Amino acid sequence: MNLIKTNKFHWLAGIATLLLSVSVHSQNNENKQSSFQENVKEDIQEFRDFYSKKFSNIDINEFKDGVYAIDAKSREQWLEIEEFAPYEISVEEGEEAFGETFANGKSYIDCFPKVEDGIRQNYPYFNTETNQVITVELAINQCRKTNNEKPLAFGNGTLADISAYISFASRGQLLDIKLPNEKAYDAYMAGKKFFYSKRGQLNFACADCHLQIAGSMLRADLLSPALGHPTAMPVYRSNWGELGTLHTRYAECNKNVRAQPLELQGEDYRNLEYFQTMMSQGMEVNGPSSRK
Ligand code: HEC
Repeated sequence: MNLIKTNKFHWLAGIATLLLSVSVHSQNNENKQSSFQENVKEDIQEFRDFYSKKFSNIDINEFKDGVYAIDAKSREQWLEIEEFAPYEISVEEGEEAFGETFANGKSYIDCFPKVEDGIRQNYPYFNTETNQVITVELAINQCRKTNNEKPLAFGNGTLADISAYISFASRGQLLDIKLPNEKAYDAYMAGKKFFYSKRGQLNFACADCHLQIAGSMLRADLLSPALGHPTAMPVYRSNWGELGTLHTRYAECNKNVRAQPLELQGEDYRNLEYFQTMMSQGMEVNGPSSRK
């Protein structure tokens, strides 16, 4: 199968939809609404500008390919690997698992009726009833819970396979993340704070490695830009020997700075994912992918 798709980048359209998504609100809240919308819009612009300046010779659309966007040498090798992608089996197994009929006769398709049109671009979203960020992985388990099925383990295995299938079916769609109200903004801000906070014995923030010194070597690794981080997930890493989700990677990056890894799909990582995906607004979904 042809696993690399290219598409036009419509981040401006992404931001426009983001703004439109909050256009219907009560008069009272209007000023507040527009101010946090403006803040996020500015954050997105600043974030992108930073990388366009730092990597001025690289088209910003390319950041969806992680570290392979900025490393011509390993990119070639990676493209070869993608030809016989190591996650192909996971996508197939994910599709099969997705087709499973629950004991009550329903199945995932009742929860995700539009899966084949692509739905990954709308995750994570903020649920305004429960006031929490819902990632695609959490949504999969919520679907199981609604249908009285036991939850799957987060991070790898069947749940990551289903996530891979969902991403695969969504390839080429553009991230379209909404900010529906002030509570959503709070979740976004919590994720943003996480991203810029130093942690662990090594006292590093995500932003230190993936923003300030992105493109530098850290021991044997070239540090990827954070712009586009969520687009290619889940990823098959040869280091892991299996598929892992964005939160598996968060936990690993936390461990690398000798910080306590947090609960996969817990509130902190979900808010972080919300922030990271918002920063990548309008970029193309191209998961799953392979990494060394
Ligand atoms: C000490 C440096 C360091 C810190 C701090 C760090 N990471 Fe990483 N991270 C890495 C390295 C090295 C890799 C593997 C190479 C790459 O893709 O950048 C990586 C990979 C990733 C990837 C996978 C990218 C891909 O395309 O596969 C994500 C996502 C990520 N980090 C997010 C984070 C987040 C969020 C934080 C903060 C919680 C964080 N990292 C903190 C070093 C770091």
